[in-house]
Amino acid sequence: MSEAPTHRRKLLVVFNRAPVAYTRDKGGDRVAKRGGGGVVTALGGLLAHHDVTWVASAMTEEDRVVAAEHRGPFDEETADGAPYRLRLVPHDQAVYDRFYNTFANPTIWFLQHYLWGLGSAPDFDPALHDAWSDGYVPVNEAFARATLEELDREPDAAVLFHDYHLYLAPRFVREARADVVTSHFVHIPWPEPDYWHALPKELRVAVHEGLLANDVVGFHTERWRRAFLLAAERLLGARVDRESGTVEHRGHTTRVVARPIGVDPSEFDRLREDPSVLEREADLADRRPSQLVLRVDRTDPSKNIVRGFQAFALLLEQHPELHGEVGMIALLAPSRQDIREYAEYAAEVETAAREVNERFGRDGWQPVELDVADDFLRSVAGYKQFDVLLVNAVFDGLNLVAKEAFLVNERDGVLVLSENAGVHEELGEWAMTVNPLDVSGQADALYAALTLEPAERRRRAGTIRDHVRTHDISEWIEAQLADLDAVRSA
Ligand code: G6P
Repeated sequence: MSEAPTHRRKLLVVFNRAPVAYTRDKGGDRVAKRGGGGVVTALGGLLAHHDVTWVASAMTEEDRVVAAEHRGPFDEETADGAPYRLRLVPHDQAVYDRFYNTFANPTIWFLQHYLWGLGSAPDFDPALHDAWSDGYVPVNEAFARATLEELDREPDAAVLFHDYHLYLAPRFVREARADVVTSHFVHIPWPEPDYWHALPKELRVAVHEGLLANDVVGFHTERWRRAFLLAAERLLGARVDRESGTVEHRGHTTRVVARPIGVDPSEFDRLREDPSVLEREADLADRRPSQLVLRVDRTDPSKNIVRGFQAFALLLEQHPELHGEVGMIALLAPSRQDIREYAEYAAEVETAAREVNERFGRDGWQPVELDVADDFLRSVAGYKQFDVLLVNAVFDGLNLVAKEAFLVNERDGVLVLSENAGVHEELGEWAMTVNPLDVSGQADALYAALTLEPAERRRRAGTIRDHVRTHDISEWIEAQLADLDAVRSA
């Protein structure tokens, strides 16, 4: 575990999602739901140790009411009781819809995970151009305005932008305040320069120039970092020093770093014994086959769930001796179901699971169990029980499941891991590596994992666990703060 932070800093975290969402209950009282996804959880450590103002979109109707009541930052606290200040940025709903449901997710996210078949998508028709100019751009401008107002209140605060929703905001901020210190962490892959040509020139240039207005740009892997450096060179003609990872563009210097995110081992030490986890685990233990292949994901097309079922079907076809012995459980959390591509994918996942069961199921044995719910405790129960963990993402910025699961697994489980998941850079050596499009290769890897000899299983699982414990979330946070300090002292 890394050292505790040395001094409290003034920080502005700027990320589309807030650590809390407000709604109203049936009686009309305001309810604050705390938590919300990997990035929010990861940044929790910052809130505990520093003076943080978090700038986020007002997403729910009640968020907008709260934003109107305060017209600026107000005091909030995390689920663990750490105080911070929250600034909710309200947007026109139609503008936000174009930003989130048309541009940020089905366009930018799809691009950065190579999910487009360029023969047919995307179509940069007027609607998609509008989603940029009347969605992505104004939402980024609104974030920049709110950030600048917060900087007026706290001129010494460093700004930490996060993720693909906000590529333009840093430049708007820099143009108004040349002296501000900012970093931007990108949690998803950075594709190779040519693939960025899927965006019209003006857009791909704006994305890269927006990021290069920061002092530091961070990625989870060397692979994404290198791709960004190459893209800066090729798409913008920026001056790039690949050795040091610095980029000079429009008179500003940016340092580009790779800082793989970690998890909080103590949280999982606690969760392992949590009564609600134990209850779910007992349920799972009752119905599990003797060998369990697990996957835990959001229902996101980048997660490659359908090919995972196809690979499992092929395994069963090739190894009848496994029938009745092995089962696959997919614990999935619904994701972005207002977006057509996501809703269609969730339906394909259901169909694919049903097909495996219709083909191979028999009395007393259902090969595949699909469980779609927003229930993290159920995932932890699954983590404890798997023999093989399948992480076969088409592309993934990092993939926290591969780290979390080994902290609590009790069966020396084996990791089957996509070569395109960012976490492969750290854990690949102790995993069965697969190409995510190679269904046959995945079936073979599942078989190899299920039949790996016990001593080797123990060695690999133990090494992964040690790595995850050592390179934890506080190491990641401290690295980002050190990067900001280096800018200040330069
Ligand atoms: C996932 C990704 C993050 C991203 C987040 C947005 O967790 O790994 O990179 O920021 O989704 O989620 P949202 O629910 O706000 O669309």
